[in-house]
Amino acid sequence: MIKSKLLITACLAIASCGFVATKGPEESLKKVFKDDFYVGAALNGRQVSGKDPKAIAIVEHQFNSISPENLLKWESVHPALDKYNFAPADAYVAFGQKNDMFVVGHNLVWHNQTPDWVFEDTQGNAVSKDVLQKRMADHISTVAGRYKGKIGGWDVVNEALNDDGTLRESKWYKIVGEEYLADAFRLAHEADPKAELYYNDYNLWKPAKRDGAIRLVRNLQEKGVQVDGIGMQGHWGLESPSIEQIEESIIAFSKLGKVMITEFEIDVLPNPSNRSGADIDATFAADEKYNIYKNGLPDDVQQQLAQRYADIFALFHKHRDKISRVTFWGVTDADSWLNDWPMKGRTSHPLLFDRNYQPKPALKAIINSVSKN
Ligand code: XIL
Repeated sequence: MIKSKLLITACLAIASCGFVATKGPEESLKKVFKDDFYVGAALNGRQVSGKDPKAIAIVEHQFNSISPENLLKWESVHPALDKYNFAPADAYVAFGQKNDMFVVGHNLVWHNQTPDWVFEDTQGNAVSKDVLQKRMADHISTVAGRYKGKIGGWDVVNEALNDDGTLRESKWYKIVGEEYLADAFRLAHEADPKAELYYNDYNLWKPAKRDGAIRLVRNLQEKGVQVDGIGMQGHWGLESPSIEQIEESIIAFSKLGKVMITEFEIDVLPNPSNRSGADIDATFAADEKYNIYKNGLPDDVQQQLAQRYADIFALFHKHRDKISRVTFWGVTDADSWLNDWPMKGRTSHPLLFDRNYQPKPALKAIINSVSKN
């Protein structure tokens, strides 16, 4: 008794107390938002294979949905024509099922992280439309078919649009033509008729791209092709996009189906150009002058990050009747892809948990923001 009193007094006397932080888990996002939307995180291979138990403890406490950061992408799951690699994806899906989570599939058709063999014959020449359509059909029926009834929703097509709202001239588009979009959604629906099917992209707050996404999804729906919702990748910064820009897209997309904020994180590092978005091919040579927080995030920036998360979550909560899921792109700052994109080897701080698995002020700020509206 006296001992625990002493401990509490000691804890109160010092600003941060490891005992308190590690013992009593902090408030849980999935509980706070349980009547509103799923709250998810992307998992990586280390987490799924049990090599990062501390991250897994956070996931189990905080989240009720998971997304696969890389392990269901074409290059991971289907690296060669006759070779599928299902073990990591199986472990990912089993983890979600064990924890009764909404399991997301990411993604079936994309221009990135898709091996060259998909688009080429053995001589390296572009395949015909027929061959590529057949390859897409095999891939979707095999992968979405394997997880039928287990994956709740698929990002069927990822990033098919340019920022001006026109269709990206990807190899899918060049070889198959615009109909590759309808093909992909139809095949996914055949493989798993109960799964939700989404279109997912970045920079969807930009008016021209927002309009492009609306055209794309509406065209499909008018043809009778099932598209259940739009995933807005939330690769956003401290200053941009504005709350109004995000809000306009949430409202506009909700007229077509479910709205999800996918791949959410707030980048705090300086951007070497004024570019926004998440084109994984758009990179810069490493330059230490852009690696400004390698020894930790200064207090004022930590507070700015917390406020930004609070403002954005207040918006999500306001539109909880339209939003079905908000998914963070990683668990702790150590996992974030922003440590290596758009520049390799930086120390990034975009998520809600730091490198010591401790909650950052942003977590509390999010939870407080909700009690206000
Ligand atoms: C990223 C992963 O986080 C990285 O680990 C990988 O090296 C590249 O891809 N848009 C998407 C995601 O749809 O799949 C991307 O994920 C980030 C941009």
